[in-house]
Amino acid sequence: MRLKKGSSLKGTVTVPGDKSISHRAVMFGALSEGTTRVTNFLKGADCLSTIHCFQKLGIQIENHPDEIRIHGKGLHGLRESSKPLDTGNSGTTTRLICGILAGQSFTTELNGDKSIQTRPMGRIIDPLSLMGARIESLKGNGCTPLRIQPSALHGIHYCSPVASAQVKSCVLLAGLYGDSPTSVTEPYLSRNHSEIMLKHFGASITSEGTTAIIQPEPKLLAREIQVPGDISSAAYFIAAGLIVPNSEVLIQNVGVNPTRDGILKVCRDMGADITLLNRNDASGEPTADLLVRHSSLRGVTVGGALIPTLIDELPVVAALACFAQGTTVIKDAQELKVKESNRIDVMVENLSAMGACVTATDDGMIIEGGRPLHGAVIDSRLDHRIAMTFAVMALACDGETAIKGADCVRISYPNFYEDLKKLYK
Ligand code: S3P
Repeated sequence: MRLKKGSSLKGTVTVPGDKSISHRAVMFGALSEGTTRVTNFLKGADCLSTIHCFQKLGIQIENHPDEIRIHGKGLHGLRESSKPLDTGNSGTTTRLICGILAGQSFTTELNGDKSIQTRPMGRIIDPLSLMGARIESLKGNGCTPLRIQPSALHGIHYCSPVASAQVKSCVLLAGLYGDSPTSVTEPYLSRNHSEIMLKHFGASITSEGTTAIIQPEPKLLAREIQVPGDISSAAYFIAAGLIVPNSEVLIQNVGVNPTRDGILKVCRDMGADITLLNRNDASGEPTADLLVRHSSLRGVTVGGALIPTLIDELPVVAALACFAQGTTVIKDAQELKVKESNRIDVMVENLSAMGACVTATDDGMIIEGGRPLHGAVIDSRLDHRIAMTFAVMALACDGETAIKGADCVRISYPNFYEDLKKLYK
């Protein structure tokens, strides 16, 4: 993919459905009784991996152009898959499904692509084992392939060392099959889509601060789910609108759940002109349209409790920092090293190739903004968030940028380049 400097971005864009919420709609729909209808479902490769896994577990799922229908069979209705499950590139599929599989009366093996096979699964193996689950990493390296065998589960209280919605959701889902309540406390609150949606399906789940508590064996009933637009996908258009001179972009129907909206807070701190319009609600998740205008930005420090609320947007924050006056510090973000790529190393390498002044730290990066930037050859390392971040940077840099492995955007935003091109002149 080759992109050149753009003169301005103008118009309206509707980003696809939220990835985290789309995964959960399929999973929780499968465990409910009756037919769950999901609109604005994200048909990216990751969420299709979730659909395929549940189809292999005996769930009938209809994929219509404007709706997904999941014919749920209740908490104990899944059946053994004749083949190992393939979770593709998806950390969410891999980690959440393990919580569900730990409570089944059959054995399952699962594996994903090369990237998934390097991502840490000890963070779910540990709490699931404490609950009594029989889950093992078949290569003994704490990664997939994994085997999960039947076993009785006990409720636990788990103090997670990481603020991770994937870990929290995995443990809560196993808690559905426990013999007593299960609770998870995190160091900071991570995205709470599981808590909101499980409640919507009829689970008994409460939250107090950074602790979520679930009661076992609820009767889950099918629901309609409207998936809001994905703020992680909207982030690329927010950034493009802010850094390309004379831009004005309206991004419609974006999920603005406070556990996900850190990008808006950081952009505001940087001096960004972003207005929220048409505040609404989609299946218990707040939404709004975002009006973004080109802005002069200043450097900021981003860390602590804010990090889980914008973990997937940190590459975008690093990109914005290159266009801001002053220094930006991203800290407390070690988790960036274990995403689809090592996002600290990959961001530093590619931003440096464009002429930015950026240094990697143990838990983030430091960026001196305001340097002249030029187009470069960018290696996405097949990480969708890296490819989209640099496509946006390309529009505000002199010359041409070539992105290697650009079509990895199919993971979360199959029409990304088409939507971006519609906006710029
Ligand atoms: C997700 C949680 C986050 C995020 C990922 C999606 C989810 O991961 O990075 O893209 O849907 O629960 P962690 O929970 O590992 O931080």
